[in-house]
Amino acid sequence: MKTVRKKFLAPSILAGNHANLSEALKTADEDGRKWIHLDIMDGHFVPNLSFGPQTVSDLRKHSDIFFDVHLMLDQPDLYIDPFVAAGADLISIHLEPKYDHSAALLKIRQAGIKNGIVINPDTEVDGLIPFLDQVDLVLFMTVFPGFGGQKFIENVLGKVSRIAQIRDSSDFDFLIEVDGGVGPDSIQPCLEAGVDVFVAGTAYYKLNAADRKSFAHTIEAS
Ligand code: DX5
Ligand code: ZN
Repeated sequence: MKTVRKKFLAPSILAGNHANLSEALKTADEDGRKWIHLDIMDGHFVPNLSFGPQTVSDLRKHSDIFFDVHLMLDQPDLYIDPFVAAGADLISIHLEPKYDHSAALLKIRQAGIKNGIVINPDTEVDGLIPFLDQVDLVLFMTVFPGFGGQKFIENVLGKVSRIAQIRDSSDFDFLIEVDGGVGPDSIQPCLEAGVDVFVAGTAYYKLNAADRKSFAHTIEAS
């Protein structure tokens, strides 16, 4: 029997005011969102820095919302413990750097939270296949990671479709997430490709409260 997965929007706090990130969290909470996406950048794997476990831990005190933590790090395996302790509910790690991916994915699950694997727009999709039985989420970057506010790269959706087809014809049960440049215009093609979780930073936070709700509802009503 085909699994029915609820589709939903996960606001990306990166687009908030970094002098007051709890405000961006409150916006998502008041809007009724169930997940918030938190981008961690190390200045090596991506050409930017964001924030670390201290910030995540301080934000955790303001909300019970699901913390979807996306590690853009050269050595994500070294930072699993601090982000688990900070209150992450899911930690996703990139396929591209060299480390023991299976061990890191297992370590995240053994900490009692969900795990995810991520690929950049130019990474071969087949590299994901060995990990599909080990993950709760597969994240497809629809921009080159490092900065919010970039343009959605639509041809990534071919890779999404491929992984969604593999999922549909197997017992695998992970969510498919897209991240980068996602806005109201990308909803339909993403839905057709098989996306479940829509990360949106710039497009979400620039809207007024009513338009934010309708953005989220368009996804959730599908
Ligand atoms: C990009 C980050 C994204 C980013 C998305 O490096 O991983 O999560 O916050 O932001 P927008 O929606 O502005 O592209
Ligand atoms: Zn992200």
